[in-house]
Amino acid sequence: MDLREEVARRRTFAIISHPDAGKTTLTEKLLLYGGAIVTAGQVAARRRARAATSDWMELERERGISITSTVLQFPYRDHTMNLLDTPGHQDFGEDTYRTLLAADAAVMLIDAAKGVEPQTRKLFAICRARRIPLFTFINKMDRPSRDPLELLDELENVLGIGAYPMNWPLGNGETFRGVYDRASGDVHVFERTRHGAKRAPVTASDPRDPKIAALVDERTYREFLDQLDLLEGAGAAFERDAMLRGDVTPVFFGSAVTNFGVELFLDAFVTMGPPPAPRLDSAKHLVEPTDGRFSGFVFKIQANMDPRHRDRIAFLRVCSGKFERDMTVRNVRTGKDVRLTRAMKLFASDRESVDVAFAGDVVGLANPGVFAIGDTLAEGDGVRFEPIPAYEPEHFALVRSIDTASYKSFQKGIAQLREEGAIQVFYPFGQTRIEPILAAVGALQFEVVKYRLESEYNVKTAFQTLPYTTARRVAGDNPGAATLGSSARLVEDWDGKPIALFESEWGIGLVQQWNPGLRFEAFGARELAE
Ligand code: G4P
Repeated sequence: MDLREEVARRRTFAIISHPDAGKTTLTEKLLLYGGAIVTAGQVAARRRARAATSDWMELERERGISITSTVLQFPYRDHTMNLLDTPGHQDFGEDTYRTLLAADAAVMLIDAAKGVEPQTRKLFAICRARRIPLFTFINKMDRPSRDPLELLDELENVLGIGAYPMNWPLGNGETFRGVYDRASGDVHVFERTRHGAKRAPVTASDPRDPKIAALVDERTYREFLDQLDLLEGAGAAFERDAMLRGDVTPVFFGSAVTNFGVELFLDAFVTMGPPPAPRLDSAKHLVEPTDGRFSGFVFKIQANMDPRHRDRIAFLRVCSGKFERDMTVRNVRTGKDVRLTRAMKLFASDRESVDVAFAGDVVGLANPGVFAIGDTLAEGDGVRFEPIPAYEPEHFALVRSIDTASYKSFQKGIAQLREEGAIQVFYPFGQTRIEPILAAVGALQFEVVKYRLESEYNVKTAFQTLPYTTARRVAGDNPGAATLGSSARLVEDWDGKPIALFESEWGIGLVQQWNPGLRFEAFGARELAE
């Protein structure tokens, strides 16, 4: 198969949702339909098993959330699917943003009884800023749900994206029997299987077939037909281009737990979803995925996923060319050549070595200390992808090592965790760097850092939460002389660049008035999210 075909059959995506909407369940069903697992129930079971065997996972288990995220590759029909799993907890961190930078599409998963929830909105904003094509799966139709039309309205009004229903539910809650597939004109009627462990058997019929009428009560059926008339009467056809631009989202109704609608969704997703897109490098050139020279960027570094290995894995998103095991590439940041000897694919906690990979694929690299977030790896010179922005932090804490004897380990730990992107690190401006101020997008990042400093670097720390809620980069001359008042503070980032921390957004305007010669600029990522 040539490079062009390999690229064309890849689909790299992430699922965005509010916790509890059913992301774990849907992920598992995608794997079931992809043939990557035979019986659903394995992923959740693996997660539990992993949590039980790994002390790093203790934190995750205690809180019942997923802090780490993995990449799952599975085949579907003629396609290779790469599902980038993002942490689901609402107190998510920068990992989630960075993972979305590596995706070509996103699936927005919505609970049919709840509609658009806060976390959905936040993640949607990031996809929107990047114009990532978005598919919507409205889940849990087997439970009493909100009116489908009302849910579509909400997508349009709350998120401001056009919503185009690809199918339409027959029944609701207990009476949910199937969906009308607008493309084929058939109602797909599903049968429930025990816990949805196997694929749901399906029969397709015309919506006006008496067999369909007999499935639900008269009123539900009449309403269903009326709504179909309304849909078809609305006239507008689905435009794939509008979806690719991020203006319209195709909407699918279903129920992940019973598998209803999962296959229809996957079929549409592989047919209409985007293959790996060209990527802009920092010289504003587009790097085509079919370009023969290998390139990729590191979007995530994850440490010690398995205590038996105790290593750090850099996740590389391939952007062009062909990745081959043992190949030598340049790390553009350091200018050094690296041989990629220990490349792996990850499936939950299992590892498998990778021989080849193409644009859209994600490869795990276990070269300790060689890579940092945002690194470009490429064959030859010339390509350097845009750096991954530091995200605007909303939580700040002063951290110190309790035991002075372990200060060296403390410093090393802080430096490495920063390099991994686990936390942002600031220091008081222009002073000797002793006590760092940690900055995070989600407060949970602090707990992870505290836990890891103790378990991996053997350093006990004390955290003192600071009252700031937002940060701005400071541009202009002599920022050290700025008048900031009592509710703001000047710090510097790792590279010594000035940053002002504010207790409120309101304080920014005031400080700006006091310092007309300086500019207080939003972090890149905030601009990205707006
Ligand atoms: P998350 O990863 O987005 O947080 O959600 P997860 O898949 O864990 O699902 C959250 C709960 O919603 C689970 O119930 C799950 O079984 C249920 N769920 C997911 N999809 C559907 C669906 O289509 N229909 C219905 N009725 N429920 C669904 P739980 O009680 O927390 O766990 P469990 O006891 O089922 O394992």
